[in-house]
Order: sequence, then structure tokens, then C-alpha cells
Amino acid sequence: MDVGFIGTGSMGGMLVRSLVRHGALAPEQVWAANRTPGKLEALRAAVPGIHTAPTATVSTCPVVFLCVKPGDTRAALAEMEPALRADQLLILLSNLVPIAGVEEQVPCRVAKVIPSLAQEAGCGIALVMYGRRVTPRDRQWLEGLLGAISRPLVIEESQGRTCADLTSCGPAFLACVLREMALAASRQQPDLPPEMAAAMARETVLATARLLEAGMDFEAIIRRVAVPGGVTAAGLAVLEEQIPGTWEQLLTATRHREENAPAPV
Ligand SMILES: NC(=O)c1ccc[n+]([C@@H]2O[C@H](COP(=O)([O-])OP(=O)(O)OC[C@H]3O[C@@H](n4cnc5c(N)ncnc54)[C@H](OP(=O)(O)O)[C@@H]3O)[C@@H](O)[C@H]2O)c1
Repeated sequence: MDVGFIGTGSMGGMLVRSLVRHGALAPEQVWAANRTPGKLEALRAAVPGIHTAPTATVSTCPVVFLCVKPGDTRAALAEMEPALRADQLLILLSNLVPIAGVEEQVPCRVAKVIPSLAQEAGCGIALVMYGRRVTPRDRQWLEGLLGAISRPLVIEESQGRTCADLTSCGPAFLACVLREMALAASRQQPDLPPEMAAAMARETVLATARLLEAGMDFEAIIRRVAVPGGVTAAGLAVLEEQIPGTWEQLLTATRHREENAPAPV
């Protein structure tokens, strides 16, 4: 099936590259359009064989991913509207754009996918939400497509913000935590160069991910490393005092930001 991508920035470009690289789409099944032609040309150079067709993308493809920033959604939908039909599936990418609001404006079926940068590496969760017109066949197709580059997880749209903090913003949050861990270590130990501390933090998180993958859960890892009264336990006491409040503040801040964003459609 031909699949269209309106917007080939960070997420649209990543989805095209990863879906083709993992064999979920052949290049000739991909139709892509972008406001600025240069980005589209760069994508075609990276993925030879895709169609770069600003006007034909929407009219040709039974499925179209709308990969523009929330603030560009209204204008992009207005451009797409004349070509949208009831037999198409439109996939939104933003928590800020409500499915029901778009369903009122377009004749087609509407779903939402919140991807994660992790899909660049063919892993991580892609959140999936469905509008009321979506069919069982759409669901099967979409989850199959995303399954090639992620673990698709179907959620309610009302859960989108919190879940996206864990899965989609998650890589940035964890990268920030690890960067600060490494920087604090090199401040504490000035003869430890920051890049060496960063390399150690990186290897530790990769190794911890392997333990999780092998079936060890968070509690088991903590129990196995921390001897009661030992040095790890002393460090954990600091984290357990400060971290829950920090994460709650973070989750409140993202929700507040989302609730106060201008209506995109
Ligand atoms: N970044 C993430 O990790 C992430 C994760 C999950 C979901 N999302 C969501 O994914 C969506 C896209 O985010 P992004 O980070 O990929 O943004 P981005 O890098 O700014 O890409 C958006 C692209 O859309 C293009 N565009 C804008 N209006 C257009 C139009 N009318 N027709 C065709 N192309 C148009 C822009 O073109 P120009 O080249 O002219 O700017 C740009 O290349 C957003 O809704 C965001 O909330 C992002």
C-alpha cells in the first residue's frame, strides 16, 4: 500500500528512513511532501526511489501521516482538504491535535501515532490512538507497519500526555539525567575528563538496558546492587528523597505546557 508523509522534518524523515530500512515499506510505496523543498531532496538522497510529490501525495495514498508541527496543522489540513477522501486513513502525530476535532473537518478516518526518536534505531514504543471511524483492518495494518520499527501500544487519547512523557519525550529526559550524572561526576573528581565520565554513563545505561531486556526488573536491579547500609544505599537514599518530586514536577510542567498551548485546529 502507498503511504504518504506530509512534513519530512525530524519525525516524518525518521519514519520514512526507518520504515524503509526495516523493510516495512519499499521506497516506491513512499510519497513525501515538505514545505521547504531542500529537506525533501535530502530525504530522497538518503532513501532513493521514494516519490517526492507535493500535490500528488495526498490524492495518491490511501494512508497519509501528517508530520507537521502542531502550529502548522491548520494550514496543512487546509491544503490537504480538497484531496482527502472518505476511503483514506489520516494519521496525526501530535498530542496537541485532538482526533475528534480533525474528524469534524475531514471526511477520512483518523488515527494518531506518537512516535519516539527510538524508532530511528528500530525500537521503543510507538503510541497509537484511534478515532471513531477507524476500522479493524486499519488497526491491523497500522500496528503491523509500526511493529517493524517499534512496539506499538494502543492507548486512550486522554492518556496521551503522560504516556508520551514516558515514551516519546523519554529519550530526551533520560539523556538529560545521564548527562547530569556524568557532569556531576567530573565536577566531583576534577581529574576525570567529562568525556570519560560520559562514556562510563553511556556504557552503564546500555548495560542496564540489557539487564532489563534479560528480564530483571527495576527492583531486582536495585536489590542486587545495593547492600543495606553500603555506599549504593547511601546514594539511593538521596535519589529516593529527591527524584519522585522532580518527576512529578516534570509531569506537571509538560501537562501545563500542553494545556496552555494555542489550539492547533
Ligand atoms: N520530535 C519528536 O521527538 C516528536 C515525537 C513525537 C511526536 N512529535 C510530533 O511530530 C510532529 C512533527 O514534529 P517534528 O519534530 O518532526 O517537526 P519538524 O522537524 O519541524 O518537521 C515538521 C516538518 O513539517 C514541514 N511542514 C510544515 N508545514 C507543512 C505543510 N503545510 N506541508 C508540508 N510540509 C510542512 C516542515 O517544513 P519546513 O522544512 O518548511 O520547516 C518541517 O519539515 C509534531 O506534531 C510533533 O509534536 C515529535
